[in-house]
Amino acid sequence: RPLEINIELPGEEAAQKVKIGLYFATWWALNVVFNIYNKKVLNAFPYPWLTSTLSLAAGSLIMLISWATRVAEAPKVNLDFWKALFPVAVAHTIGHVAATVSMSKVAVSFTHIIKSGEPAFSVLVSRFLLGEAFPMQVYLSLLPIIGGCALAAVTELNFNMIGFMGAMISNLAFVFRNIFSKKGMNGMSVSGMNYYACLSMLSLLILTPFAIAVEGPKLWAAGWQTAVSQIGPNFVWWVVAQSVFYHLYNQVSYMSLDQISPLTFSIGNTMKRISVIVSSILIFHTPLQPINALGAAIAILGTFIYSQAKEK
Ligand code: 3PG
Repeated sequence: RPLEINIELPGEEAAQKVKIGLYFATWWALNVVFNIYNKKVLNAFPYPWLTSTLSLAAGSLIMLISWATRVAEAPKVNLDFWKALFPVAVAHTIGHVAATVSMSKVAVSFTHIIKSGEPAFSVLVSRFLLGEAFPMQVYLSLLPIIGGCALAAVTELNFNMIGFMGAMISNLAFVFRNIFSKKGMNGMSVSGMNYYACLSMLSLLILTPFAIAVEGPKLWAAGWQTAVSQIGPNFVWWVVAQSVFYHLYNQVSYMSLDQISPLTFSIGNTMKRISVIVSSILIFHTPLQPINALGAAIAILGTFIYSQAKEK
């Protein structure tokens, strides 16, 4: 077999770094906009099952139009692909709706502080359900994550159990989403963008009947009238913004996953949470006690330490 040597020229390396930097900046900016509009919508229209469904519907529609107009090339997928995607979509649906229910009950910053604890769930699930062992440093790095999240939770001024549990369930579901997507997708060549498009479509099919059963058209119609009477006709654009930006930030994050290692991705995701926590506190004037901010800072620092420990 001929010897293959990959040499990256300094110029190419710099260009790659700029590209990744642009992906990250776009991902975080889109995520901040999503979180702001999502919360504005939920404040006026507290129906998280419908808004979660609309986010998936917007993404599905955008991608179907992109494929039909050949803006993006449609993936060539078979039944095996959809079968492997099914458990991923179930986990994605649960994680998404649980996070949205959480944000309908508590401050956006609180949901994201708890969501910064996702690495702890990942290690515990891998250890206790998959029997995977990690070096001591990885377990130790969970202490600040768990301790920081716990401190932030007990000092949260507007604590709400459903809001807390929603963020915890979302963490657990997203850990399973990652495990299932690693297991099922090996060897299948679908781009990050198309993978996320198919995930949205399948999740939409799964979520729609549950959204109708849990909330349903009667509540939605009454809630919509109240929201429009309070906010005015512009309310519909808030809903469009939360739905479209949800798809866009996820699409960019899956596209960047094609380019970077899972480690770089998880560091990027933690930094994304910092930008969301800070901007939502400023925009919504969220009351914050110093001890609460300290808890958040410890948890976030813990996720950086965890990334380093995991890498080593
Ligand atoms: C959702 O609604 O799916 C969550 O807000 C997503 O959370 P994350 O993408 O920030 O993990």
